[in-house]
Amino acid sequence: MPPRIALYPGSFDPPTNGHLSIIQRGLKMFDGLIVAVLKNPAKDELFSVEERVQLLRGALNLDKRVQVKTFSGLLVKFAQQEGVNTVLRGLRAVSDFEYEFQMANMNRKLDKEIETLFMMTGEDYFYISSRFVRDVARLGGDVSGLVPQNVLEALKKRFK
Ligand code: PNS
Repeated sequence: MPPRIALYPGSFDPPTNGHLSIIQRGLKMFDGLIVAVLKNPAKDELFSVEERVQLLRGALNLDKRVQVKTFSGLLVKFAQQEGVNTVLRGLRAVSDFEYEFQMANMNRKLDKEIETLFMMTGEDYFYISSRFVRDVARLGGDVSGLVPQNVLEALKKRFK
């Protein structure tokens, strides 16, 4: 049987322990994951795409089952390019649902082979979002325990 690989896409600005938890749990269901970092020209970008890739790689401790790549444009196009048809997403709360539901259906409309699989975020992580981590760190709040050690250090450096 060929290895089962899923795509785990996101902005990851910055990667959080919530993301890592989904990756670790995803690896129990898949042989490998491609973490796909969106190259978005967002105005409030904290880390560049290259920095996010490095932060993810650092946090993943060179786990060979996980590849970290970047993509731009449509996710379904990138999935086709990579020969992957399962997209993995974490779902935190009801508030995530509508956006995720629309995105999963839009992606399936664009490519009927694409299946989105949701994992409920663990109870320790359901309130963590990259946006809040960014804001709290920017304002001098303590985000230890919410992000991997290398991300914590990068945040401290950025806002010192
Ligand atoms: O971490 P995020 O910001 O919630 O991730 C969102 C992401 C990157 C998965 C989503 O914005 C995306 O796939 N963008 C690529 C553009 C695309 O394919 N859009 C159509 C689907 S709605």
